[in-house]
Amino acid sequence: MRRPLVAGNWKMNGTVTSVEALVTGLVSADSPSCELLVCPPSVFLAQVRAGLSVAGDEEKIGLGAQDVSQYESGAFTGENSADMLVEFGCRYVLIGHSERRQYHGESDDAVAAKVERCLAVGLRPIVCIGETLEQRRNGSVLTIIAQQLGALAQTVAREDWGRFDIAYEPVWAIGTGERATPEQAQEVHAMVRSTITDHGDSEDFTRILYGGSVNDDNAKALFEMADIDGALVGGASLNVQSFMSIAECAG
Ligand code: 13P
Repeated sequence: MRRPLVAGNWKMNGTVTSVEALVTGLVSADSPSCELLVCPPSVFLAQVRAGLSVAGDEEKIGLGAQDVSQYESGAFTGENSADMLVEFGCRYVLIGHSERRQYHGESDDAVAAKVERCLAVGLRPIVCIGETLEQRRNGSVLTIIAQQLGALAQTVAREDWGRFDIAYEPVWAIGTGERATPEQAQEVHAMVRSTITDHGDSEDFTRILYGGSVNDDNAKALFEMADIDGALVGGASLNVQSFMSIAECAG
C-alpha cells in the first residue's frame, strides 16, 4: 500500500525567525498518519534539520530540498549537489518544479539527469510535471504529461521506477487560488499511474501527489480520488494550522 505523503514546498520564503517559529509549530503539532515532509530554501536546511532533531522528530517530519544539480561536483556556481543534500539530512528533493522549468529553462532531459544523480546517492526525488493554461486550453494535457514522463522512461531503469514520487502540478493552478477539480486531477493521475505500471516493476512504491492551490478546504475531496496519494503544498505549507489540517485529510 502507498502511504500518503504531504509535502510543503516553502519556495523562496522565510527568515531565520519565521523558520524557527514554523518548525517549532510543526514539531509540537499532533502527528497525522500520513508521511510529512518540508522543503525549505537550501540556506535553511541545517536550521530546519536541527529544529526537527531537537524534538527527536526527524522521523515524524522529513527534510527535502527544492532543487539539486545534475552534476556530481565541481565548477557549478550556485548549485548544490545530491551528496551535499544527503549530508545535510535530506531524504527527498523536488525536481523539475514548473518554476524551475519556466524561469531557469530546465528541460525534461535535465530533469531526468537530476533524477539519475539522486538515485545514485539514495536521495528520493519528487518529480514535478504539469501543463500550462495554454496547453490545457488546446487539449494537449495528456500529450505534455507523456512527454515529461517520456524523458524519465528513457533514462531510469525499470527497477528504479519505485524509487521516486511524482507531483502533478498544473501550472495554471499554482499560487492562483484556482485548483484543478478532483476529477481533472484524477484524469491525469490515472494516466501517470498507468505509465508507472508500464515502465516499472510495481506501481505500489511511487506516490502521485497533487499540487496547486491545495488548502484545508479542498484537500479532502482531492484525497478521495483513487490515484491521488498526497499533496505538494506551497502557500498553505507556511502556516502550521493549514498544513497540518491538510495532512489530517490525507489520513
Ligand atoms: P501553491 O500551493 O501555493 O499553489 O503552490 C503549489 C506548488 O507550486 C507547490 O510546489
